[in-house]
Amino acid sequence: MTPVRRRVAVLHGVNLDQLGRRPKAVYGDLTFDKLERQIGVFATALDLDPRFFQTNDEGEFVGHLHRLDGMVDAIVINPGAWTHYAWAIHDALEIAALPSVEVHLSDIMAREEWRRISVVRDLCVATISGQGVDGYRDALVRIKQELSPSMSAPTSSPLQEEPQK
Ligand code: DQA
Repeated sequence: MTPVRRRVAVLHGVNLDQLGRRPKAVYGDLTFDKLERQIGVFATALDLDPRFFQTNDEGEFVGHLHRLDGMVDAIVINPGAWTHYAWAIHDALEIAALPSVEVHLSDIMAREEWRRISVVRDLCVATISGQGVDGYRDALVRIKQELSPSMSAPTSSPLQEEPQK
């Protein structure tokens, strides 16, 4: 029997849809389209089924988290600037009660002081920050380990053979 691919919600918060128009010194030339395509490549290589969602409306983001119960097995979350102050998102992620990994493209600890706070960190099994797009691959590997604890960490990842965009 073919094993069912585990579903992972990949949640992008405020302003991430504007990648490509954001400071190049921080985010490079990455566009939102490229980001989602690359995450799709990472997920396929790990036999995971990504379910993408992005909004600039905090209420919609919270509502989406409320509806994840039974729809996905895990969450990869980059709340954008909401990371630093949106406690409603913290509470909604707590309600979702799924294994979650927090990702940031940029290194939030090396930027402005106010970015060092993350309201979701305590609910996540890992926080990956400052690795650019590759941070999402690390997050999905971490999710995979969380969902199949018997799976040991890959030593030579097949992902390294995926073409980089
Ligand atoms: C971000 C970091 C946040 O501080 C910022 O507000 C973002 C993107 C990142 O992915 O690096 O919008 O979450």
